[in-house]
Amino acid sequence: MPKSEVKTSLLDNMIGVGDSVLLEPLTEDTFLENLKNRFDHSEIYTYIGSVVISVNPYRHLPIYTPEKVEEYRNRNFYELSPHIYALADEAYRSLRDQDKDQCILITGESGAGKTEASKLVMSYVAAVCGKGAEVNQVKEQLLQSNPVLEAFGNAKTMRNDNSSRFGKYMDIEFDFKGDPLGGVISNYLLEKSRVVKQPRGERNFHIFYQLLSGGSEDLLKQLKLEREFNQYNYLGLDSAKVNGVDDAANFRTVKNAMQIVGFMDDEVELVLEVVAAVLKLGNIEFKPESRVNGLDESRIQDKNELKEICELLGQDQAVLERAFSFRTVEAKQEKVSTTLNVAQAYYARDALAKNLYNRLFTWLVNRINESIKAQSKVRKKVMGVLDIYGFEIFENNSFEQFIINYCNEKLQQIFIELTLKEEQEEYIKEGIEWTHIEYFNNAIICELIENNTNGILAMLDEECLRPGTVTDETFLEKLNQVCAVHERFESRMSKSSRFLNDTTLPHNCFRIQHYAGKVMYHVEGFVDKNNDLLYRDLSQAMWKTNHVLVKSLFPEGNPVKMSLKRPPTAGSQFKASVATLMKNLQTKNPNYIRCIKPNDQKAPHIFAEALVRHQVRYLGLMENVRVRRAGYAFKQPYESCLERYKMLCSQTWPHWRQGSRDGVKVLLTELQIPPEEFSYGRSKIFIRNPRTLFELEDLRKRRLEDLATLIQKIYRGWKCRTNFLLMKKSQIIISAWTKRHFQRKKYLQLKNVTLIIQSYIRGWKARKLLRELKHQKRCEESATTIAAYWRGFQARRELKRLKEEARRKHAVAVIWAYWLGLKVRREYRKFFRANAGRKIYEFTIQRIMQKYFLEMKKKLPSMSPTEKTWPPRPYFFLDDTHTELKRIFHLWRCKKYRDQFTEQKKAIFEEKLEASELFKDKKALYTNSVQQPFQGDYLEISKNPKYQKLNGAVEEKIVLADVVNKINRANGKVAPRIFLLTQSNFILADQKSGQIKSTIPVMDITSVSVSKQTDGLFAVHLKEGSTAAAKGDFLFTSDRLIEIITKLYRTIFFKTNQKINVEINNEFLVQFNQDKVCVKFIQGAQKNGNLPTCKRKNNRLLEVTVP
Ligand SMILES: Nc1ncnc2c1ncn2[C@@H]1O[C@H](COP(=O)(O)OP(=O)(O)OP(=O)(O)O)[C@@H](O)[C@H]1O
Ligand SMILES: [Mg+2]
Repeated sequence: MPKSEVKTSLLDNMIGVGDSVLLEPLTEDTFLENLKNRFDHSEIYTYIGSVVISVNPYRHLPIYTPEKVEEYRNRNFYELSPHIYALADEAYRSLRDQDKDQCILITGESGAGKTEASKLVMSYVAAVCGKGAEVNQVKEQLLQSNPVLEAFGNAKTMRNDNSSRFGKYMDIEFDFKGDPLGGVISNYLLEKSRVVKQPRGERNFHIFYQLLSGGSEDLLKQLKLEREFNQYNYLGLDSAKVNGVDDAANFRTVKNAMQIVGFMDDEVELVLEVVAAVLKLGNIEFKPESRVNGLDESRIQDKNELKEICELLGQDQAVLERAFSFRTVEAKQEKVSTTLNVAQAYYARDALAKNLYNRLFTWLVNRINESIKAQSKVRKKVMGVLDIYGFEIFENNSFEQFIINYCNEKLQQIFIELTLKEEQEEYIKEGIEWTHIEYFNNAIICELIENNTNGILAMLDEECLRPGTVTDETFLEKLNQVCAVHERFESRMSKSSRFLNDTTLPHNCFRIQHYAGKVMYHVEGFVDKNNDLLYRDLSQAMWKTNHVLVKSLFPEGNPVKMSLKRPPTAGSQFKASVATLMKNLQTKNPNYIRCIKPNDQKAPHIFAEALVRHQVRYLGLMENVRVRRAGYAFKQPYESCLERYKMLCSQTWPHWRQGSRDGVKVLLTELQIPPEEFSYGRSKIFIRNPRTLFELEDLRKRRLEDLATLIQKIYRGWKCRTNFLLMKKSQIIISAWTKRHFQRKKYLQLKNVTLIIQSYIRGWKARKLLRELKHQKRCEESATTIAAYWRGFQARRELKRLKEEARRKHAVAVIWAYWLGLKVRREYRKFFRANAGRKIYEFTIQRIMQKYFLEMKKKLPSMSPTEKTWPPRPYFFLDDTHTELKRIFHLWRCKKYRDQFTEQKKAIFEEKLEASELFKDKKALYTNSVQQPFQGDYLEISKNPKYQKLNGAVEEKIVLADVVNKINRANGKVAPRIFLLTQSNFILADQKSGQIKSTIPVMDITSVSVSKQTDGLFAVHLKEGSTAAAKGDFLFTSDRLIEIITKLYRTIFFKTNQKINVEINNEFLVQFNQDKVCVKFIQGAQKNGNLPTCKRKNNRLLEVTVP
């Protein structure tokens, strides 16, 4: 079962009695005993119906965890053990779901835990209401307003280390969904006298200590403060440090909270400046200075402090100094300035400090309100949380205690009124008979204080406004006159002199019997405090500062707005605000938390019975319980009652189908509960006696055990059955699957066999069909073939016949023509001349020739000498003519071609022709040379300065000049040489220097030899016996072999008119000195490119390797 569904009840595992209404027997002792018992077991909360009593545990209890919040969330009030969360949840849910504005009234004396309770309520509501970035920010701002207000408004007192010294009422506003929208805080009467003076053992407001302990060095320097507390007169020294309180850490918390709430950095700075100024004001001291008129005037002792304050507040020092020395009274356009004596100066100083601090506090509350106010204008639901100072009875009670206690009286009254009214209304609403219960109504005390004509506050105001000398004593006198007869008022001088003998009552005191006890008030200071006077000079001085915050705090100091009207007194202001508060609370549904302080030592585990008894009495708790019990001890809606007890009756268990009211009736009748023990309301059952409830509870407990066994039994049975059914189901599934599997396997086998048989039959059938088809086709084909042959035969026979016929017709035609010709010739022979036939023949021939030439003219081929085409001859007899004509045309075409050339070009072509004749188809190198033009002079000897000398030595025209490689006759090595051919000589010269090595006349050359290969080697054979031939024939190699030999050949021919022999062979003989050497060409791999490598093998053989 999920955790949230575990239903525990107020009545489960109870320590003592959770709801005091159920106490039996009900006496003050049993009530206290119950509280103590529960307190000892850490159960600090106890209910009186819907009222929560909270006993301060003075220790941390683990009952405020998020898990607890979840536990109490959305649960009925009595469902779980008493807790403040149950009340908060109830309030929040009826606000959200029933649209009822709520207020949570937390009362109790100082230190009873009101503030803590209010924070718990707020944190619970924050935890359970809506979520989201915007909502969370609102929640955070609402929660963080607490530390700020506590720092400025709380102080350590004898009763409480964190005592609230102001009243606080906070309205939290929600939208229709229950999401918080914002809030409004109202503050009531800050105890400002604490700023200047604290009772022994108490402290000033926390913020002073926090600032001095937690402010950084820089901040303190900026605020002109010293860190030591003892530097400041306003700080109570004997209890400056509080155990367990870290002021420095709290200062950081406060600053952080201010930031979250929305204070700007400069605003925080301004606030701290005012705090510092207040602290420093306490250090201004005055000394008397005698004047001529015998009066003492006050003077500031040490102006340094004043100077620093003025610097802090941006104030003119002279202005403030004057305000501390003079007092201006203005009446009807008349200004009277009087000097202040020392006492008055101190009074003025303290008044300024108190006012400054009090106004700062009010400003802070307003500033927080500005931040947390709801932004949207939608209708809001409101939950008010009231945490107001508790009832105070001190040794010396003054105006503040009077006011505080008055406020508590009012709250008590509203409590009485609303609680009883609510209870009574419920009985009436439910139609239950109701007899009125008597209770103490404190309206009479409220009347004594607040009555407009003769109430104490009215008297005080009257006294303050009265012209003439007004003192606290005159006020008391007045009280004695007016209130003496009041039964709750006591004084020494009262007219009735009922108490004249009461020596416990000093002369300057009066006593009021409050609902919570008698309190004696000292009248001293009442008038002053009620007047709350601040000299006008001071407020004007404050208004003149440059400090924006301080200036705004003293608007009455503005001379323009100055009014002579007295401001309302503190008492009347408070009365008015309390009245507004009460009105506000009355419109809302109240929820009460009544806090009780278990001991005065602020210690855990101590339950001081007398102290608690006193609180129980004055809080009227017993009355409260009795009122609840006088009617019925317990009430519950029918639905929840039936839900809780329906198992006790066979008719209602397990289901009751009719209305829950009838169900409860049936149930109670069957249980035989006496009818006087309960009453049936409209929606609730009212149980008169707690014992009846407990009996019901006992029965329920026993029945629950039986039911548990029954449930167990049924559950086990159910579980076994479910298990069995599950197994059965699985078995069926498994067998179904197995059967399916086998059937499927069998089916597949059968299918395969069928398929094979089927395929065989189909194959056999198909083959049979094919055979038949083939036979049919063959039959068709043979018929066609026979038909074709027959037709062919017929066609050929027909063709033969037709040809024979045609031949015969032709023969007939020819014979007929010859016959006709013969006939015509015979007939016409006598008409012809002797040579006419010849003439006709000639004419015809002429015509044919004419036509032939004209047509030839059109068909002539191109003029290119290489063109080979020639039109076919048209007539057989022109065969010779046609060939001749082709020859003539070609020659003519060549001539035309030749005629285009210059002499020079002609010579070149002649040379090329010569080369072709010499080498074409004989030497392989020839083909390479065809496209190379023959330049002759490759060295440009006449132009090249290097060969100037050589050029000088040559007289004739140079036919060829080139570098060739000369092959050494002895070893076959090569050396470059200039090869120069003129018209009659060929000259060999050094390639580098141009030095002539040998000059050989061309006539001495007999022949030249070359190989058939692509190599460039050639031998020049010389005439035997000539001078040049002394060393033997020359062997050269050159790439331009074809050109060189052609030129050499032509030169010799021109010179001698003889053609030298050019031998082209792969083996030839050369004459070296006296030897005939065979030059043999062999093919092989070439080492140096295309150059042939020569090797002299022996005297007879020179081997040339060519590619
Ligand atoms: N529920 C609680 N659990 C633990 N400690 C608590 C609880 N309630 C109160 N206290 C302790 O008691 C101290 C006094 O409580 P708190 O300040 O709420 O009193 P108060 O009723 O507001 O008094 P005053 O009227 O002086 O402001 C707290 O500082 C805290 O230490
Ligand atoms: Mg408090």
